[in-house]
Amino acid sequence: MDFKSFIRDVPNFPKDGIIFKDITPLLQSPEMLNKTTEALAQLVNGHKIDKVVGMESRGFIFGPLLASKLNAGFVPIRKPGKLPSTTLSETYDLEYGKDTLEIHTDSIQKGDMVLIHDDVLATGGTASAACKLVEKLGGNIVQCNFLIELTFLEGISKIEEYQAKSLLKY
Ligand code: PRP
Ligand code: MG
Repeated sequence: MDFKSFIRDVPNFPKDGIIFKDITPLLQSPEMLNKTTEALAQLVNGHKIDKVVGMESRGFIFGPLLASKLNAGFVPIRKPGKLPSTTLSETYDLEYGKDTLEIHTDSIQKGDMVLIHDDVLATGGTASAACKLVEKLGGNIVQCNFLIELTFLEGISKIEEYQAKSLLKY
């Protein structure tokens, strides 16, 4: 299945010089929505998953679909101040500045088998922070799973202690 033909390059978004990989054409196709969910689930290779953890915002698209397919729960990791109950935070470096992600402290039980999912692996800062949050709560990371990996940004080096898989590489 030619997933890449459903992903559109948008030049100069969100900034000049960046070519944005837009997955909305893929999302519009009922067939591709199913096939993508199925293909992401197959990357997990039959491992038991208790929780799929997805990062706001675009990790919330396939994250819950994948969780449903894998008979797992879904746990959101959100940008600061969005989660209502007690949270744990992780701050990480960006190219210029810092960012923070939060998770509910009661969302992962010790020993939970966790799949981390996001749409894109770029520099790896988001995925690495998500892994730290899950491990601090006692979760075991089975795999980090992405729809798209931008290999030239070498984000994989920030999560090299985990198994990482992506459906599409650029
Ligand atoms: C994008 C993408 C990943 C992250 C990857 O999210 O959805 O979450 O960047 O980048 P990194 O590997 O360099 O950390 P973005 O922060 O643009 O927000 P969004 O998901 O809310 O659109
Ligand atoms: Mg994102």
